[in-house]
Amino acid sequence: MAKSTLSFVCQNCGAAYNRWQGKCESCGEWNTLAEEDASGSVPVSIRSKRKGRTFALESLAGKSPDAPRLSSGMTELDRVTGGGFVRGSVLLVGGDPGIGKSTLLTQATSLLARAGHRVVYISGEEAVAQVRLRAERLGLSDAPVQLAAETSVEDIVSTLSEGAVPRLIVIDSIQTMWTDTVESAPGTVTQVRASAQALIRFAKKTGAAIILVGHVTKDGQIAGPRVVEHMVDAVMSFEGEGSQQFRILRAVKNRFGPTDEIGVFEMTGLGLREVTNPSELFLSERDLGTPGTAVFAGIEGTRPVLVELQALVAPTSLGTPRRAVVGWDPSRLSMVLAVLEAHCGVKLSGHDVYLNVAGGLRINEPAADLAAAAALVSSLVNAQLPTDAVYFGEISLSGVVRPVAQTPARLKEAAKLGFQRAVLPESARGDAGGDAGLSLNAVNSLTTLVAEIAARGSRRGESSAPAEKNATPARFRRGEG
Ligand code: TYD
Ligand code: MG
Repeated sequence: MAKSTLSFVCQNCGAAYNRWQGKCESCGEWNTLAEEDASGSVPVSIRSKRKGRTFALESLAGKSPDAPRLSSGMTELDRVTGGGFVRGSVLLVGGDPGIGKSTLLTQATSLLARAGHRVVYISGEEAVAQVRLRAERLGLSDAPVQLAAETSVEDIVSTLSEGAVPRLIVIDSIQTMWTDTVESAPGTVTQVRASAQALIRFAKKTGAAIILVGHVTKDGQIAGPRVVEHMVDAVMSFEGEGSQQFRILRAVKNRFGPTDEIGVFEMTGLGLREVTNPSELFLSERDLGTPGTAVFAGIEGTRPVLVELQALVAPTSLGTPRRAVVGWDPSRLSMVLAVLEAHCGVKLSGHDVYLNVAGGLRINEPAADLAAAAALVSSLVNAQLPTDAVYFGEISLSGVVRPVAQTPARLKEAAKLGFQRAVLPESARGDAGGDAGLSLNAVNSLTTLVAEIAARGSRRGESSAPAEKNATPARFRRGEG
């Protein structure tokens, strides 16, 4: 019998060591090494004796049949996959437990099955009865989805090799799968990787599309199978705030489509409902007219999305004030705060700053700088911003408001939702087209915007008297506590 080689494998990144240590040097995580059999999936005896077979080499320019796509029947899901599931491709869907991954995939498979495709749903986590119960709740019991509660990859592959090739196979979840070819326990990196490999091979060989469900650890990574992320064709993450009903499907990696599109859903008593106009949803519970809120006209992929940014700036009693941000990049917040301090004379070092993107959306665009700055200043001076205005623009380190892409689309969406004005970069006024019907307030430096908001604050009699002499209220000026 071949001697098995035990080694210590990081459960986070898959790096292998031959002795145990507290910290993984590859990814820097602590306590993630676990003992595993790392001899690989092929026994040594076979490995050494097998003679390599020859294969044909192809030219780069050759014609390949184009990737036929299988539309899921859910527009929001298709938008994120790039137009449907590609034949023979493997897609990983990650998300927190309870976010609705199984619900989403039950709905998608049922729609496909109803459309006459062979669709298989393998649940490694729930019993058949539980999956049925969910389908019943969703009103999808009649859909001819083929269902099984199985965890052995070999059994799954043999079963699925019989009969017509399924168009779509859902494996819920990859962490529960195990294969005989490796000795480690289910859920370990070695098992997850070997199981995923076997399933990927099956997909490539037969042309079936496979969706793997993956769990997410508390720090937001797909547990263990970070290694799997590299092997699959596409990685989607299903996100949302526990307390909120919105769910966002986002492509993290996609070999067959864009990675900047999002799909928006709402979790209802009857499953996930597609939200075709996300702006309406994100603005529906708006804190109209509260100081510290500004509406950002953003772009997610190809779609304009209006969303509310909420800021709270409050005096602190701590030596190091708190900076907390949800839904936006913390380093961009630090940058905007630094620009406000350095160029606009806004003193924030004695204040805690909180910034939140409403609705559980996560924004990556630098175009949100201007809206964030407006919300922050509005909260600081306790002055409400106009409720009919949207903001967008990138702020440079010198305090200049820089133009951003797709100005007309942003303005059109704002006009559609009843907004009357837009605060935007001076240089973007040219591409605005003027057809949106909004009144445009072009600003070329952040100082201008701060002065405008501060003036609103002092008009409310909130600010101290010397403010009247200068557009910037006295307490903003440098050197005052
Ligand atoms: P589920 O799809 O099981 O989550 P995951 O597979 O990501 O762990 O969804 C679980 C949650 O969704 C659960 O808290 C109940 C809720 N839910 C609804 O609100 N409405 C529904 O119609 C369904 C099926 C679930
Ligand atoms: Mg589930």
